[in-house]
Amino acid sequence: MAGTREGLMDKIVALCKRRGFVFQSSEIYGGLNGFWDYGPLGVELKRNVRNSWWEDMVSRHDPLDAPAGAPQSFQMVGIESSIIMHPQVWKCSGHFDLFVDKMVDCKETRKRYRFDHLKGRWATNGGKRVFVTTMASGEEGLKEVEERALKYFGVRRKDLDKIEFGTGVHGGLSFQTGGMRATLSYTSASPRADLRPITDADSLLNILAPDATAPGSLTEPRDFNLMFKTIIGALGTEEDTAYLRPETAQGIFVNFKNVCDSTRVKVPFGICQIGKSFRNEITPRNFTFRSREFEQMEIEFFCQPKESPNWYTYWRNRRYAWYTNLGIKSANLRLREHDKDELSHYSCGTADIEYAFPFLDAGEYGELEGIAHRGDFDLRSHMEGKLKNENGQLIVETGPDGQPKWRGSGKDLSYFDDQTRERFVPHVIEPSAGADRGTLAFLCEAYYEDEAPDDKGQMQTRVVMRFHPRLAPVKAAVFPLIKKDGQPEQAKAIYRELRDAGIAAAYDEQAAIGKRYRRQDEIGTPWCITVDGETAKDGAVTLRDRDSLQQVRVPVKEVTGEIQRRLRGA
Ligand code: GAP
Repeated sequence: MAGTREGLMDKIVALCKRRGFVFQSSEIYGGLNGFWDYGPLGVELKRNVRNSWWEDMVSRHDPLDAPAGAPQSFQMVGIESSIIMHPQVWKCSGHFDLFVDKMVDCKETRKRYRFDHLKGRWATNGGKRVFVTTMASGEEGLKEVEERALKYFGVRRKDLDKIEFGTGVHGGLSFQTGGMRATLSYTSASPRADLRPITDADSLLNILAPDATAPGSLTEPRDFNLMFKTIIGALGTEEDTAYLRPETAQGIFVNFKNVCDSTRVKVPFGICQIGKSFRNEITPRNFTFRSREFEQMEIEFFCQPKESPNWYTYWRNRRYAWYTNLGIKSANLRLREHDKDELSHYSCGTADIEYAFPFLDAGEYGELEGIAHRGDFDLRSHMEGKLKNENGQLIVETGPDGQPKWRGSGKDLSYFDDQTRERFVPHVIEPSAGADRGTLAFLCEAYYEDEAPDDKGQMQTRVVMRFHPRLAPVKAAVFPLIKKDGQPEQAKAIYRELRDAGIAAAYDEQAAIGKRYRRQDEIGTPWCITVDGETAKDGAVTLRDRDSLQQVRVPVKEVTGEIQRRLRGA
């Protein structure tokens, strides 16, 4: 990543648009918030991310030997399930009742915010105290709070010290939720230098909403279900309501029996799926990081309950290594185990793989992937009906009539181990990654500015995307030095040979050679091949490496083999 974080994200977003990686969806109509399109280079990059995942997790997985760190050998298979599934799937999985975010509306500006995304600080001046909020984080958020407090109190910047920030009692907020009044019992009198969650306010009446001019405009927090609704068929009644899947995982659980019955997989084994998911996020933001339509790459790994802690550890480490093997520096990556009180009620362990995205403050990380130990929650829910946790036990949730609130399929999703003659419901380890978030992390990690000589030998700043060669949209670019003396013909022949060998290659004969190198550096092409005046004499071309800038002569006949060798070794 380039030196300072300031402005880095803006540079990456600008490059993504300029070079055709990512565009705002429906841009000519003003764009659609939370939706993104991948351009000609972006589609290749994202496909390479997906393909690397699929190759590493499924098609190149060796089921005959235990990979390093794995308790034993295992099989990995794939599926592709439909985006719209039976509505009962989401009732039993818990998404229908529980897949909610708390939101608040601003009565003054009519804007809507996610309750847990609002942060702020107490500001006191002339006996008045307000909790000034912002959607920004870190330094930017603190500055914004300062500006808004100055404006609200009508104080000039030079008199900033007349406003006291972060002092007095924090906490005590109470609000109405689900027919009950929730009082957040926490209070503290210690001064706070940082941005605080909105629960540090004492009353909604004292909160200055992020875009409001006066406090007290926020509504009570309300639950908002994130699933997109749609209607199946022509009748269009409420009974025909279905949902766009908010995760690909449930498509795997409901096919567990099909996969067991139709293949020779034996526990432990994993079922993998890549596909679109949809969430009606209240505040999509940070470029593609939080989108409303995105792609997931999920594994449900089914194992013996008593072996599951070992498999959890294995998958956590294996998935972390996947990112570092593809070029993410461990200094920018973090494996964070959830605290016990953060865990879902059915989970005995969850870890997030987090990346230091440049839109976050230094020291902050955003989730790339979650690895969750899910016990037998999902398979049992789809057998028995929606489960709930009661005193540490998962039991079927019942309605007022004593019957299951949401009925399961009634199908037997247990597994019979013919070696041990045991029947059990497998436990599940779920490594769940985002293809778009992964692609964004690879883009951010690749962005680099350094100096390289131009055609006149003068050092110039160059932007170089240091993608891992497996991910680079174009692997090799071929240039004739000049557009005559048979050089274009020879360069085109090399270009065609590379493409015939399945290597994504580009051909470019426009502009000075330095400019052509720079164009390829900016899209992350690892190798450039130049046919020059010497080629006719020595039968060789210049092969230039994007990162080391080292140039070597390679015989024309060996170019394709050399690129293949370098790709294999990458
Ligand atoms: N089946 C488990 C599951 O879906 P999750 O943490 O909600 O877990 C998994 O999502 C991954 O999907 C996240 O780590 C992230 O990479 C990606 N993801 C989730 N919501 C997203 C969104 N709104 N935009 C982009 N990616 C998202």
